[in-house]
Amino acid sequence: MMSSKIPVGILGATGVVGQRFIQLLEAHPWFEIAWLAASDRSEGKPYGEATGLRLKTPMPTHVRDMMVLPALPDGAPKVIFAALDAAIARELEPQFAAAGCAVVSNSSAFRMQPDVPLVIPEVNGDHLKLLECQTWRKQSGGYIVTNPNCSAIGLVVALAPLHRQFGIDSIFVTTMQAVSGAGYPGVASLDILGNVIPYIAKEEEKMEEETRKLLGTLNGGSVVDAAFRMTAHCNRVAVEDGHTESVSVKLNQPANHDAILAALTGFKSVPHELGCPSAPEQAIAYDFAADRPQPRFDVDRGEGMTVSVGRLRPCGVLDWKFTVLSHNTIRGAAGAALLNAELLKVQGYLS
Ligand SMILES: NC(=O)c1ccc[n+]([C@@H]2O[C@H](COP(=O)([O-])OP(=O)(O)OC[C@H]3O[C@@H](n4cnc5c(N)ncnc54)[C@H](OP(=O)(O)O)[C@@H]3O)[C@@H](O)[C@H]2O)c1
Repeated sequence: MMSSKIPVGILGATGVVGQRFIQLLEAHPWFEIAWLAASDRSEGKPYGEATGLRLKTPMPTHVRDMMVLPALPDGAPKVIFAALDAAIARELEPQFAAAGCAVVSNSSAFRMQPDVPLVIPEVNGDHLKLLECQTWRKQSGGYIVTNPNCSAIGLVVALAPLHRQFGIDSIFVTTMQAVSGAGYPGVASLDILGNVIPYIAKEEEKMEEETRKLLGTLNGGSVVDAAFRMTAHCNRVAVEDGHTESVSVKLNQPANHDAILAALTGFKSVPHELGCPSAPEQAIAYDFAADRPQPRFDVDRGEGMTVSVGRLRPCGVLDWKFTVLSHNTIRGAAGAALLNAELLKVQGYLS
């Protein structure tokens, strides 16, 4: 019997994010894996031989036997989830978009390009309208849509209700980012065990520029960046999964503790209401315990798609401070792209 699901491909299928795609797509009600591609190191090998699965769920048997194909658009399905390093994405993703594919990308290569939507469906799904300006879309029907950097996404989900209700004047954020955020094999164990590395290349710049675009306003064919001042300090820590962030904000309008809490807990998950299967019922879960959220206990909330917030309290420098935790390879990567693809389908961009 023919499947009624939409066939999808994964570019960079053998990496940390590619493996998450395999896991999240395994029982997906709308999409099914039809094509896998990676570098010439993996090309021509069965997936199970090309990569050792480093997740807690078993590798699906039909995927284990699928051949890893060259990263070329010929014969690829029309929906491509891309999990490539930025330098490679910059070269390959346009080839797929020009060939008529919807490229749902994780990489930073095109996030800041003015006609490329940078989207978190709970926050700025309306920015998908930028697709109409893309040359690829006009010429072949293909396009590129991106999700943000894994540390920007948790922060922006938590800031969005505050920005909407009170306006944000300035943000000071310090991250404690998991090792899985560096891909595989990532940071050498001798560098990270018992250590904190106070540097992640280009991460602070990405957080600052992406946060402004995500919370910006769509104005015709471009996004006007949000005007707040922001500084980010990014650190790599010896945690497997889950980026924790200490955030201070100054608001444009005064707000008390209860009003901020109500904004956070009342934040609606629009994609959940639209029926997107990967959307968590709660985009934000507020944790009232004094010492939470913590990655060990809270990272898998909402199947890894819910952003945990806690420790809301006054800040002696800005107005308020709190802690944010989000799963970097699910909410911050494969799950984010999957949710973007679901929103694209709901909005008619996959027809
Ligand atoms: N890890 C995270 O938490 C996270 C979060 C958000 C965004 N991202 C972004 O997602 C992207 C992928 O990250 P990752 O952590 O999954 O990286 P990774 O583990 O290093 O995986 C990279 C993938 O790209 C493939 N690849 C490398 N060179 C290629 C080439 N020339 N042609 C085709 N495929 C090639 C690799 O294939 P081989 O196995 O054959 O080498 C592998 O499948 C990056 O842009 C990253 O910044 C990652």
